Amino acid sequence: ASYDTAGHAHFLVKEIHEQPTSVERTLSGRIDQRFSTAHLGGLNMDAREARAFRRVKILGCGSAYYSGELGAQLIEELARIPAHAEPASEFRYRNPVIEADTLYIAVSQSGETYDTLAAVQEIKRKGGKVLGVVNTVGSAIARECDGGMYLHAGPEISVASTKAFTSTAIAFALIALHLGRVHDLSPADGRRICAGLKAIPDQIRQILEQEKVIADLAAKYSGHEGMMFIGRVRGYPVAREGAQKLKEVSYVHAEAYPASELKHGPLALIGPDLPTVAIVPDDELRDKNLTAMGEIRARSGPVLMVGHTAPDPKLAEDCILVPKNEPELDPILLGIPLQLFAYYAAVALERDVDKPRNLAKSVTVE
Ligand code: G6P
Repeated sequence: ASYDTAGHAHFLVKEIHEQPTSVERTLSGRIDQRFSTAHLGGLNMDAREARAFRRVKILGCGSAYYSGELGAQLIEELARIPAHAEPASEFRYRNPVIEADTLYIAVSQSGETYDTLAAVQEIKRKGGKVLGVVNTVGSAIARECDGGMYLHAGPEISVASTKAFTSTAIAFALIALHLGRVHDLSPADGRRICAGLKAIPDQIRQILEQEKVIADLAAKYSGHEGMMFIGRVRGYPVAREGAQKLKEVSYVHAEAYPASELKHGPLALIGPDLPTVAIVPDDELRDKNLTAMGEIRARSGPVLMVGHTAPDPKLAEDCILVPKNEPELDPILLGIPLQLFAYYAAVALERDVDKPRNLAKSVTVE
């Protein structure tokens, strides 16, 4: 098949704009209203098997790994099963212990990333159960797994992942809901998450309406040689993917740090030349995040806050506000403006947006 940018300047921005509908496709037919859970027949796993897992390990590379970090957090929060993400490329080389009561989940947009495939094969050789969260139907990783979920996000052409990242996070929210409802997530919390998921496509539309403002901010900040991205707990994987996106497409150096760790090292870098993007949802950590922003401002570091409620203007020079959802699902929406930010920074710097230097869409070799 051949694809075009459908009137957009690049595939990257086209794919960013597709997200309200690609998320709808990921959700389609998977919300079970009656029992406030997710209907996921492709997992090939009955409730008894789903209840038996004591741990979840998520594997992927690049943005797939970062989406796995969001996924691990969702599973731990909603299902209360310890969950961790690890780069598949590290996992496969460290002779990992494969446990029968761990559920392994491999994440891949293309389904062809060699390191992720090799990790799946190693787990299977040692008797572990692996599910795939994959976009490309019939791909090598999808075929190798014992079951899983297709994203149905549609083909992603731009090397930098956007809609597949968001759909993977949605898929993890569904898996977390499903596992939660056979562990101890209450029907009321199940209903709350179902309603939250259904609201996401329209909330993404609202964020996309701020495109012009975000483009201006990206142009303003793209003149700096580097940027820091900070977040805490739910905000930290968002910060990591935001930094990844910026460095991939704009070549501006970007580093993500837990806001709580700033004082243990990176604060030494802060000054007027190093702006910080602070991910600050309205949650129980908001005040701590505002304190970190104050520490940055005290050293004349510019701050762009991405969150739900504008802070005291002394704490952030600029601010992008997104609609509020349920606390567990907020990270999915907080990531969307960072995609536009990276895209417009790359445009301002006249980069090869859809095909950044030195990178490939899928790395099918070791
Ligand atoms: C490459 C791409 C990344 C992508 C990663 C994993 O490095 O440049 O954008 O996140 O591979 O790809 P996958 O297809 O496995 O999700």
